[in-house]
Amino acid sequence: MAVLDSGFGGLTVARAIMEELPWESVLYFADSARGPYGSKSIETVRAYALECLDKVVTHEVKAIVIACNTASAAMLRDARERYDAPIIEVISPAVRQAAVATRNRRLGVICTEATKRSQAYEDAFAAAPDIDVLVEACPRFVEFVERGDVESSELRDVARTYLQPLKEASIDTLILGCTHYPLLSAVIADVMGPGVTLISSAAETARETALCLQQLGIERQNRQVPSRHTFLTTGSRRRFQRIGQRFLEAKMLQVHSA
Ligand code: DGL
Repeated sequence: MAVLDSGFGGLTVARAIMEELPWESVLYFADSARGPYGSKSIETVRAYALECLDKVVTHEVKAIVIACNTASAAMLRDARERYDAPIIEVISPAVRQAAVATRNRRLGVICTEATKRSQAYEDAFAAAPDIDVLVEACPRFVEFVERGDVESSELRDVARTYLQPLKEASIDTLILGCTHYPLLSAVIADVMGPGVTLISSAAETARETALCLQQLGIERQNRQVPSRHTFLTTGSRRRFQRIGQRFLEAKMLQVHSA
C-alpha cells in the first residue's frame, strides 16, 4: 500500500502502519523537494499532492494513505474521485479519537497554517456541535523537528507562545494535527500540563487502514514472506535517509528518486 506525505513527517504514520500490519509492504512517497506544504496555498498543495498520487498509482498500490494533514485537508475529495484505490486520511481518525477522549467538550487542534485555513478540522467536528473546537497554527514546529530539535529552550519558548490560547481556553484534549508534532509530544505535554490528553492520528490511522483492508478483503494472504518497504522522494535521497532514519528509528532506508 502507498503512504503519501510532503516529506518526512508521514513516516510517523508509516511507522504505525508497519507496526500494525507487519506483513504489508509500504511504498512511501515523499514530496520533499516541494514540501513542507503547510505554508503554501490550498490550491498549490492540491496540485502538488495530486501530481504525486498520479505517480503513486502507477505502482499499482492496493490502498493509499494520505499521511499529511495539509494534503488531506486540501485534496481528499479530489483524490477519492480521481483514483480507484481506497483512500485513508489522517484527519477523521484523530477527530473520532478526540471526540471520545474529551470530558469537558473543549478541544484544541494544532496544525499547519494551510490546514487551519482549510477549516478541515472544524468541518470534521461539525457532526459534534456540543464540542468547542479551537484550532491554532504552529508554523515553526515543523522547522524545529526537521533540524532535529525536539527539546531546546528556544523550542519551549515558541511552544509556550503557540499553546497559550489553548491553555486559556481550558481544553482537556489536544489533537496533534500535523505529522511532525508527535515528535514534540514531550514539550507539548509539558507546556499543556497533565490534565490535557494528546491525540496523535498515527496509531488510529493505522487501525483504520487495517480495518479498510480487512473490510475490502485485500489484506496480504501470504504472511510468511517478509514485507518490503520502498521509499521514494522527489528531493535529496541522502537527506531523506538521514532525517527518515530518525523518524523510523531504523538503521538504513533504501531511498530512491521519485
Ligand atoms: N505533513 C504536514 C502535515 O501533516 C506537515 C509538514 C508540511 O508542512 O508539509 O500537515
